[in-house]
Amino acid sequence: MNPEEIKDLKEWDTKHLWHPFTPMSEYAEEDPLIIARGEKNTLYDVEDNAYLDGISSLWTNVHGHNHPTINKAITEQLGKVAHTTLLGITNKPAVRLAMALTEITPPGLSRTFFSDNGSTAVEAALKIAYQYHRQKYNREPKRSSFITFSNAYHGDTIGSVSLGGIERFHETYRKLLFPTYEVPSTYCYRCPVGEEKETCNLKCFGRLERLLETNGHEIAAIVVEPLVQGAAGMITFPEGALRRLRELADRAGTLLIADEVAVGFGRTGSMFACSQEDVTPDLLCLAKGITGGYLPLAATLATEEIYSAFLGRPEENRTFFHGHTYTGNPLAAVAALASLQVFKEEKTLSGLQPKIKKLWDGLEIFKELHHVGEVRGLGVLVGIEIVHIPLTKRPFPPAERVGHRVIMEARKKGVILRPLGDVIVLNPPLSITSDEIEKLLDVTYNSIKLVTKETAGRYSSVER
Ligand SMILES: Cc1ncc(COP(=O)(O)O)c(C=O)c1O
Repeated sequence: MNPEEIKDLKEWDTKHLWHPFTPMSEYAEEDPLIIARGEKNTLYDVEDNAYLDGISSLWTNVHGHNHPTINKAITEQLGKVAHTTLLGITNKPAVRLAMALTEITPPGLSRTFFSDNGSTAVEAALKIAYQYHRQKYNREPKRSSFITFSNAYHGDTIGSVSLGGIERFHETYRKLLFPTYEVPSTYCYRCPVGEEKETCNLKCFGRLERLLETNGHEIAAIVVEPLVQGAAGMITFPEGALRRLRELADRAGTLLIADEVAVGFGRTGSMFACSQEDVTPDLLCLAKGITGGYLPLAATLATEEIYSAFLGRPEENRTFFHGHTYTGNPLAAVAALASLQVFKEEKTLSGLQPKIKKLWDGLEIFKELHHVGEVRGLGVLVGIEIVHIPLTKRPFPPAERVGHRVIMEARKKGVILRPLGDVIVLNPPLSITSDEIEKLLDVTYNSIKLVTKETAGRYSSVER
């Protein structure tokens, strides 16, 4: 691309584009990174500088960019038809994908409702849960509340924001949101009930258990990000916690909604996080990696028990009155089918285990960095929490934007990362190679070391 064109693009970007979750005043002062193409796990900017995609283009890419199998599937479908509606009619890729999802998700989820992003997958799930209790055989119209976890993130539509628990993202919209019962999440590094991880016996679930005893009858569903709360900074669930949640939901006669938008499609080391604890949720939300990171698509899967409550004559109005224009888009559906084919052909999941081991072995030395408070996560999902004072876990002042500065430093060294506050997130494509893991770790380590040392240096030695 010639320098003149690049200059124009940079100018128009800051003049006309409004970037999501981006403080725009500051962004406008930085040199924008304009991506031109991708090849395997590397992205190239308009000047052909290479960057390792350390966050899978916002947790979506699975098998690498420009994968021939996925490209071919999309191109072939494009020669047939790009889009037709699922409202009242159907299309071959959507049918085949619904069938395929039934086969690979936890047993018992037989119905797929398509939408086009993670927020809408969750939005559909919460409306299905709400309507289900009103239409099922033994109706329970009082079940209209949801139990959510602190630090949860389920998307940006008003319904999914209502289920969220991240102050920084959600507080602004508080008055627009419907109330939920929020219970503590398993943020062991800053334990919400002041216990030690090794001996706590899941005491943080106490509030949830008491709540279900007193108010269980009004709960439509418990909503959870299984095993890892991604946007919270990769907060993990202790082993057995998800299974316990399933038991508690069953005992209270309420539904369990598993939001696997971030953790699904191999990120935790298995195809779905729920499978690691043999849990079948009543509703399962999928998006992000579903198309291998190629096109927007989401799915909300339901049990036959839930689905059957929506059957009846049209005039009974039991229909699920919800649907998005691009629901079940054939191009996106063939991309998803091709991604599943690659999982099989490249034996992605079995090949992933040694990579996960290498990643976590390499992360050990991060714990020796003075300002690294905790390194946590599961599979390829990694959160490195940076603190100012390790003893008290005090963060750096927000104005320092330490997380942001770390990822800008990593960018200079050829790796794309994105922070969540002062938690540095690694979430590479499952196709990452051994050499790339080394580069990812090396660059992240050196960027954290440099920025934290420089920042701490500006405070008094007592504070350091
Ligand atoms: C667990 C979870 N649910 C829902 C969403 C929302 O997905 P989307 O951004 O596609 O709307 C996200 C996005 O990060 C997520 O991590």
